[in-house]
Amino acid sequence: MYLNKETIADIKQSTNIVDIIGEVVSLTKSGRNYLGLCPFHKEKTPSFNVLEDKQFYHCFGCGRSGDVFKFLEDYRQITFAESASVLAERLGMSLQVPSNQLAQVRQESPHQKLFEINQDAERFYQAVLKTTKIGELARQYLYSRGITDEVIEEFHIGLAPAEPDYLYQSLSKKFDETTVMNSGLFNLSERSNRFYDAFQNRIIFPLRDENGRVIGFSGRIWQESVSDDQQPQAKYKNTRATAIFNKSYELYHLDKAKAVMAKTHEVYLMEGFMDVIAAHRAGIDNAVASMGTALTPEHVNHLKKFTKKVIVTYDGDKAGQNAIAKSLELLGDFTVDIVRLPEQMDPDEYLQKNSPEELEKLLRQSRISQVEFLMHYLLPENSDNLQAEIDYVDRMAALIVQTPSITAQNSYITKVADLLPDFDYFQVEQAVNNQRLLVRGQMSQAANQTQAAQTVMVELPVSKQVSALRRAENQLFHRMLNHAYVFNDYRMRSDFHFETAELQTLFELLNQEGELDSFILSGLDNDVQSAYYAVLEERLPEEVTDGELQELDRQISRLLAQQEIRKQGKRVRETTSLGDQDGALLALEALIAQKRNLE
Ligand code: GTP
Ligand code: MN
Repeated sequence: MYLNKETIADIKQSTNIVDIIGEVVSLTKSGRNYLGLCPFHKEKTPSFNVLEDKQFYHCFGCGRSGDVFKFLEDYRQITFAESASVLAERLGMSLQVPSNQLAQVRQESPHQKLFEINQDAERFYQAVLKTTKIGELARQYLYSRGITDEVIEEFHIGLAPAEPDYLYQSLSKKFDETTVMNSGLFNLSERSNRFYDAFQNRIIFPLRDENGRVIGFSGRIWQESVSDDQQPQAKYKNTRATAIFNKSYELYHLDKAKAVMAKTHEVYLMEGFMDVIAAHRAGIDNAVASMGTALTPEHVNHLKKFTKKVIVTYDGDKAGQNAIAKSLELLGDFTVDIVRLPEQMDPDEYLQKNSPEELEKLLRQSRISQVEFLMHYLLPENSDNLQAEIDYVDRMAALIVQTPSITAQNSYITKVADLLPDFDYFQVEQAVNNQRLLVRGQMSQAANQTQAAQTVMVELPVSKQVSALRRAENQLFHRMLNHAYVFNDYRMRSDFHFETAELQTLFELLNQEGELDSFILSGLDNDVQSAYYAVLEERLPEEVTDGELQELDRQISRLLAQQEIRKQGKRVRETTSLGDQDGALLALEALIAQKRNLE
């Protein structure tokens, strides 16, 4: 099937825009439409409207609008042809799209070569670990850390040889220079104008995207060695940012973890690669780690695709505790538990000292809630400082009221009171009760606000925000679109044109093409497209009423005349203030003539 008018119409006919948008925006039914938070601009109250009967969307906040194709184009940042083929695929239709219309074909990614070179590098590093002398030593190091051959296979662990450019020599024949340059696997030396391997003498952990494609590597030092400038080397080193590797977004082991997450609905978030590997050895595969950076909002959004529950499993040391507190701020939309690791250990160290079964038990059972973690984390160190304790109790009270279960709330109150010598249960409970009242007050206020906002939204369609002239012209064009005879009538009139430039463009296009469809619209400026959807949005009785068009004509010419008068008046004011008496008189005369015409 080819991409043409008919297939586009077919796809649109068989697709419900509410389903497509509903996959990425949470929508609630409101009257005849669906409402949600606009994915194109930041907002707290929903103003993003999906009109099921007319199959398009409109945001009252940012003004974006379009049909299902346009939505995918903007949401996924793809071309019209691509959005058509995405929708076709959903319907089980296979769509042939001319290659010049596909900026990014999904099967044949523009970064295909980068994926290939990374894949080849992975094989090279694995071979070095498995078959060389130095590889033998590196394997001894891994075994000493409890990493068996099974684990080496599972995680595709490799070794970068202690040589300046063995990888380069092995891959440069097969790949063009641009790919080599952009792969992040090599550094170009300015001095010698030569490529050097970015990883030398490091244990290699391949990094994969969520689909299991190799996108980069992290290398760990394993032998005592100092670099040329006598600086101690970083323990881990990652591939630099490339077109396919963004370390603020990618999570180690997500490709494997996602299948488990689909069943358990939760994920362990860890600090290091070795911790994720330790979890695997304990039989737990829904664990991921950020790539040597602190957790970012991008990581968090990435995880949202897969689960709503995160079990933060950071190191038991002070830095780890601080990192937990930071990540809790980012994980606001998730249910979060925290695994408490004993004595400054990370999961890998815990496994060194205990059995896999014990690590499994720790990860599965030694969890505390967010409130409990913060209860200890925020506890003032100095028990003489009463004000600090009062602040602490208020902060805890605010957290405690957010806990759904009243039993849990009561047990938290007991715990907080136990932690503070100067407070008893009732004092803490009082603080919690104050918070309860506060929350209730805010809730009813918020409810009122949303209600008000929704009434405004439902009752105030865009048309109220545009000028009367634009409104009249919208109505006229709406009639033209839906009633061929109206359109015919107007296009025969040689003196007719729309004052609104976008409508005039659409009018001329309709004249040329005979109809306006998604295909044609996709080639137009955003302003023109929006104007089209604003017209569709007009709520009019189906039938043109008697005299409606004549009334519209009258209205439009009256509004145009008024506009002209405003301009004339302005000219009169300008010319008088400039002292140009003759000009002022002329302008005044014109103004009077205009007004007379109107009466
Ligand atoms: P092992 O020492 O091998 O057990 O690793 P670890 O996971 O215990 O390391 P650590 O807790 O020190 O660091 C946690 C994570 O931070 C590592 O897995 C790396 O991703 C990252 N990391 C640690 N050191 C460095 C470094 O020097 N450079 C970079 N880029 N990342 C690092
Ligand atoms: Mn470690």
